[in-house]
Amino acid sequence: MIFGRVKSLDAILATAEKKSLHRTLGAFQLMLFGIGCVIGTGIFVLTAAGAQKAGPGLMLAFAIAGLICIVAALCYAEIAAMIPVAGSAYTYTYATMGEVLAWTVGWALVLEYAVAASAVSVGWSGYLNGLLMEFFGFQFPAALAGAPLALGGIEGGIINLPAVFIALLMTWLLMIGTTESARVNAVLVAIKVTALTAFIALTLPSEAFSTDNFNPFLPAGVFGGFGSGLGAVGAAATIFFAYVGFDAVSTAAEETKNPQRNVPIGLIGSLLFCTVFYILVAAGAVGTVGGQPIMGPNGIPFPAGSEELARQCATFAANELPLVCSNEALAHVLRQIGWSGVGNMLGIAAFVALPSVILILLFGQTRVAFVMSRDGLLPESWSKVHPKWKTPHVITAITGVAVAFAAAFLPVGKLADIANAGTLYAFMMVAIAVMVLRKTAPNTPRAFKTPVLWLIGPLTIAGTVFLFLNLPFEAMIVLPVWAVIGLIFYFLYSRSRSHLGRGIVEVHEDELEPHSPIN
Ligand code: ALA
Repeated sequence: MIFGRVKSLDAILATAEKKSLHRTLGAFQLMLFGIGCVIGTGIFVLTAAGAQKAGPGLMLAFAIAGLICIVAALCYAEIAAMIPVAGSAYTYTYATMGEVLAWTVGWALVLEYAVAASAVSVGWSGYLNGLLMEFFGFQFPAALAGAPLALGGIEGGIINLPAVFIALLMTWLLMIGTTESARVNAVLVAIKVTALTAFIALTLPSEAFSTDNFNPFLPAGVFGGFGSGLGAVGAAATIFFAYVGFDAVSTAAEETKNPQRNVPIGLIGSLLFCTVFYILVAAGAVGTVGGQPIMGPNGIPFPAGSEELARQCATFAANELPLVCSNEALAHVLRQIGWSGVGNMLGIAAFVALPSVILILLFGQTRVAFVMSRDGLLPESWSKVHPKWKTPHVITAITGVAVAFAAAFLPVGKLADIANAGTLYAFMMVAIAVMVLRKTAPNTPRAFKTPVLWLIGPLTIAGTVFLFLNLPFEAMIVLPVWAVIGLIFYFLYSRSRSHLGRGIVEVHEDELEPHSPIN
């Protein structure tokens, strides 16, 4: 039963055919789109959590997570170019392993996109508060700008209102049909890349840079222990978040000119670019201000996002705050080494650019849910398209409220870890789907073939499972619990309503306009 109800590849491809009129994106735009989705809270904020887990080994963490994403991207590239339709990993799984597993992937993608949108909203809130302090000497009080301490937030925290505000604002923009023009995206990418380049250029040659700061390089070891989320691989599992979103490029495959060539270039190009940048940024941050974790009494770092760490951080004066305590890690580093003005500009860059990451993640979420609803697995009323806005406004509103709720009460590191759990599962399923399709549909044209798939595919599976097992236990456990809730919903609700199950095979005309947030 698990592998039953496989959606016909031909029907899916027929859907794609109908949409060929909208192909406007080229490889370069796609790469910009990828970089636009990827550079965000991961590098601007989570660098601090990564350092708390790995110390200077954070650089190694970026390399490990980047490598795993690159092999995953090679798998994504084959399937995204072959099945260039909306729904990404969900659709691929439907076409290979059937409805039940496709459902679990779609369900896990909620964790990826929606929870990631919450995490970026919280990251934005941190930068907003930092800028308010720098420019106006005013900050939201802890009670209104942080998650409760008991959930790993800050002393006195109750609710993160700026994060709620930005999540709802982006939801509203998406509901009324706002998408970013390719030009706006290009400008935002330029702003982010300039900010990171300035960071690298000011930190690596800085007088404050000292190789002593890299010693000890791995204060928490390579493996921090199962469930601890510590050590270089624990940090890699968290910092993996910095790469989340590259798969959104595949969701734009429907609108890509010559997707067979351009999608792989867009996916892999944006990822390689970001990996190099991230490693250099990590080197600059740690080399100048140091990145040693705050150790607990037993010589083991306090868990990132823990109540104990929050209490320790509260004991430092603002100008002596260690990297691992900062909510706006990169701006903080520049201010510490005497580049306050540039630090503030970097803060402004994050403030301006992070909302577009939220918009893209929300977009990804609503479109996956839209396809699932169109397939009859979620209530069909959810996929109603607004007559004037031409958007799936119902699903967008539901998503936005959920995203705002999570952003209100959870700290960024925990949200990122949960998002990573869902994403890793989706990536693993994509790797399996590519291998299955090589066997079941060997003759369907593939302009891009994953090189040495029988090595890259298993490597992707091993890499994603490995990172998953190095998440903190509380994030790891969310995935199976979430899956069980999803399966209950599936068997009680979706299974009997599934269009495929009821024998309805449909080929959709364009219902939404436009299909990707960049056009
Ligand atoms: N990779 C994206 C970020 O770091 C989600 O914000």
